[in-house]
Amino acid sequence: MSASRAAGRGRFITLEGGEGAGKSTQAHLLAEHIRSLGHECVVTREPGGSSVAEALREAILSGVAAPLGPSAETVLFAAARIDHVAQTILPALARGAFVVCDRFTDSTRVYQGALGKVDPALIRTLEDIAAGQCRPDLTLILDLPAKTGLARAAARRAQQAADRFEAEGLAFHEGLRTAFLDIAASEPGRCKVVDAAKGPDEVARAILSAVEARLGPLAAKADAS
Ligand code: TMP
Repeated sequence: MSASRAAGRGRFITLEGGEGAGKSTQAHLLAEHIRSLGHECVVTREPGGSSVAEALREAILSGVAAPLGPSAETVLFAAARIDHVAQTILPALARGAFVVCDRFTDSTRVYQGALGKVDPALIRTLEDIAAGQCRPDLTLILDLPAKTGLARAAARRAQQAADRFEAEGLAFHEGLRTAFLDIAASEPGRCKVVDAAKGPDEVARAILSAVEARLGPLAAKADAS
């Protein structure tokens, strides 16, 4: 039994990848499809997804916490995750809902761990504290060249300033891509790499087929009456 099945009856799907990979668009497209079949689907994100976690998101992504260093930022991501898991994810899974989450623990492993060089023991400990038994049934890694992703992200935010991590250089973003692909290679049972350089409809089809391959066909919900 997967961890989220143990935590409830729902299914927990995470989307991961570098900047501009289209995770949030794809999270919403997947949720629309799941809902069209009569199932409840909660779309959420990290950092964020609950009131305390959204407040922490602002502190982290504004760069206000950056002078504290990568270890302290990791603690803040974990604090946000504790609230998000408790307030949003676990209750939804317990109701039997699908939860589609834009970023989760793999982002910490990659941004703070692989790139931020935070002690792997600290990353693991905080992951266990914050996520506990709440582990994804499926993680979709949206993969595309770093340059393409950064150009998309810049076009999306138009005149707004890049956030704390988007503002890092190209080598950092290429490192992110490699680190996400390393996770996918090391956990092939949980992770599926999706080519995110394709157009949104094609990516959505690839995601749907990965979801059905891993979780079984998404059938219309039987009428309870
Ligand atoms: P996004 O929601 O626009 O993707 O922005 C979230 C940013 O936060 C993104 O640059 C990745 C970063 N992040 C981490 O560094 N560690 C984490 O654990 C999470 C969830 C996000």
